Amino acid sequence: DLHSSVETPDKVKADAPVYAGKEEDIKQSKRITASVHDREVVVFYHEGKFYAMDRYCYHAGGPLHLGEIEDINGQPCIICPWHKYKITLATGEGLYQAVNPTEPSATPKWRSKGIKQRTHTVTVDNGSVYVTLSDLSISCDSDYYADKYKKTGSSDM
Ligand code: FES
Repeated sequence: DLHSSVETPDKVKADAPVYAGKEEDIKQSKRITASVHDREVVVFYHEGKFYAMDRYCYHAGGPLHLGEIEDINGQPCIICPWHKYKITLATGEGLYQAVNPTEPSATPKWRSKGIKQRTHTVTVDNGSVYVTLSDLSISCDSDYYADKYKKTGSSDM
């Protein structure tokens, strides 16, 4: 099956935080990409907070690091540049607008499809930003593209 490749022999190593960049640089650029244990992630700095998630959109592998951030129902979301899917920065939930068929004229409500994009933990220590991958044994839709576009070897962009 698709997910059997997720099991990695060096699980302990995959849990270790990886340096992603300087705090002041990311605060200025607002986003950076990084390879964390061969996984491509994007780190955002938005309204005073850091967020990290898989870099490629769960839908069809779109480049989330090139998306716009928008507030939807008070939740900051990245808008995938390819097909405009909306993903919450904090939890990786896919949002969609639901229309009530019995009330078609009403404003559609935002609903969650559940967690679709894997998010990761960001820690800041002494001016350096680190990313710790979330538990890879629990599968997530974005794993497919994370595995497909895995970085092996050099990590230059
Ligand atoms: Fe992101 Fe389709 S690839 S919305």
